[in-house]
Amino acid sequence: MSETIATLLHETRRFPPSEAFKAQANANDPAIYDQAEADWKGWWASWAEKLDWYEPWNEVVSWERPNAKWFSGGKLNACYNAVDRHVEAGRGDKLAFIAEGEPGDVRTFSFAQVKDRVSQIANGLKAQGVVKGDRVCIYMPMGPELAFTMLACARIGAPHSVVFGGFSADSLADRINDAQAKVLVTADGGWRRGGIVALKKIADQALAKGCPSIEKVLVYERVGAPGTLTEGTVTPEYDRGEWRPGRDLWWSEAIDGQSQDCPCEPMEAEDLLFILYTSGSTGKPKGVMHTTGGYLTGVLATSKLVFDLKDDDVFWCTADCGWITGHSYIVYGPMANGVTQIIYEGSPDTPNKDRFWRIIEQHRVNILYTAPTAIRAFMKWGDAYPASCDLSSLRLLGTVGEPINPEAWIWYNEKIGGERCPIVDTWWQTETGAIMLTPLPGIVATKPGSATRPFPGLLASVYSEDGVDVGLEHKGEDVGGLLVLKRPWPSMIRGVWGDPQRFKETYWDRFEDAYFAGDGAKIDAEGYYWILGRVDDIMVVAGHNISTMEVESALVGHPAVAEAAVIGKADPLKGQAIAAFVIIKAGWEPNDALVKALRDHVANEIGPIAKPSTIIFTADVPKTRSGKIMRRLLRDIAEGRVLGDTTTLADPSVVNALKDQYSTPQPA
Ligand code: WTA
Repeated sequence: MSETIATLLHETRRFPPSEAFKAQANANDPAIYDQAEADWKGWWASWAEKLDWYEPWNEVVSWERPNAKWFSGGKLNACYNAVDRHVEAGRGDKLAFIAEGEPGDVRTFSFAQVKDRVSQIANGLKAQGVVKGDRVCIYMPMGPELAFTMLACARIGAPHSVVFGGFSADSLADRINDAQAKVLVTADGGWRRGGIVALKKIADQALAKGCPSIEKVLVYERVGAPGTLTEGTVTPEYDRGEWRPGRDLWWSEAIDGQSQDCPCEPMEAEDLLFILYTSGSTGKPKGVMHTTGGYLTGVLATSKLVFDLKDDDVFWCTADCGWITGHSYIVYGPMANGVTQIIYEGSPDTPNKDRFWRIIEQHRVNILYTAPTAIRAFMKWGDAYPASCDLSSLRLLGTVGEPINPEAWIWYNEKIGGERCPIVDTWWQTETGAIMLTPLPGIVATKPGSATRPFPGLLASVYSEDGVDVGLEHKGEDVGGLLVLKRPWPSMIRGVWGDPQRFKETYWDRFEDAYFAGDGAKIDAEGYYWILGRVDDIMVVAGHNISTMEVESALVGHPAVAEAAVIGKADPLKGQAIAAFVIIKAGWEPNDALVKALRDHVANEIGPIAKPSTIIFTADVPKTRSGKIMRRLLRDIAEGRVLGDTTTLADPSVVNALKDQYSTPQPA
């Protein structure tokens, strides 16, 4: 990218909050932005004060780039703030979780019950020798016990490292070894699409690769335990792995008999709360470190204002706790706010494609937070599924994880939100810990596809390649560049576990005075941010910078297209030529006429320069398990290379099918 990104998107629709929403919103006075800006340290301190501390802090923040310390001298416990304080305030009977398993079993837990359960798990971990500072690796199916285990670790000051239950044995072993985890907590299995993911077997395979730091393996009986499934559920056959006496312990034996009394360990504000691995585009995954006081402050504030949380809300974030979204917006943020939440174990199309809408109807969900990739799948499945359910309880919708194309945004607004619910498009990262760019739903008019503006107290901008701040200086016109954060924030990454050099190089060396997020972005004339995707997702076609996302958005805007993945393919003439992998909707024919129609459509929407030179119709595109399109693999296919690393793919068969298809001639 030689110049700033010239984006060609032109979305003009805007959606101000309704008077009714505004009137009841937690934040509805635009002055909140100026107030936070005028005294950003005071702003964050005012949120930290809403937490319970054992000892007060001496200094809000000290900043010696790239090392930040927030609320130094203060002592608190994350589990106490998420659980105990609600019980002590007399709200112990309030529901913390309504947990629905994929087979249909529903269990509920009040805050008092969560406290008892978490205390037992904490005592169980202690009984296996876990002490403050020890790392505990958690490899469990999505469910309340996963959240409880994280909280149990926080309770005793043992940092957790959650590994998503869809990761392979290799990925698990790498993460265990990098963190030098002492105990692994897993399960016999978890339900997914009517089958069982054999977690214990995969954990055995990981340990067989050599994980000398692991002393004990605690195995929660999700599938095998009596009483956790609805009567009549038939469990499919699955591999239970091999029991290793002395190392392996059943949860029912190690936890159920423990005392429900376990004191919370007072932690320093800067003590490590957790490590969470995030994959870089190259090299091994990075163990992103988050500490206690600042992280909790960030997730408390953003949960409360972005999701407009009220005491009687039922909040549903559909992420798995294996991702940062589940850490920040299931376990720590909403719980610190004392809100009732849904936890759902399985896939959105089991037993039918209306599963999410049934859950919303049945449990009267008020706030739904999900990902664009899911929304596009729902669009593809058709309007009839949500239309058949009562979604009138919903009052706010959110998205996260990737840019949402305007068509999907509009569909979400109409078919799910009934044109009544504000949509918060939230941009953030594992590294930022909490939401960074987002509308405050009672204040900011939204534009489909824009994450709107920085959360109060943050300073963001876009920089040119050579580090000029083009964002803050812009005068009434669009500017594009590299997204940066220019001021420390409480939930910021504190380091890469075991690799301070990589921490510095990845985030802080690119620019001397800002955090480099790795995303391209545009700021429009009104100061709204439009995320264009990862910087390596920018194509340079005949000297023009075009983001893969805007071509994908244009394609998905055509009625025939359900989903599109776009890459820049090396081209001797243009530098890069655009190749589009397109999934079409039922009822359309993948023929030459459609290829032409789609190319013309993109030319009309964006300009002839963005016209894909190749369009490949496909049944699927390779995605990571968190739903991000693996463009690197598509480039490998398009440029005829040997395929790179495919271990993080949700469905590895997709690439081989595509490869075969790519070698058969396509219409020009
Ligand atoms: C992308 C997920 C556009 C972005 C919380 C970021 C988004 C990466 C959005 C972080 C959004 C996340 N609009 N892009 N609203 N939210 N992203 O670490 O590229 O899994 O850098 O954290 O997802 O992904 P991560």
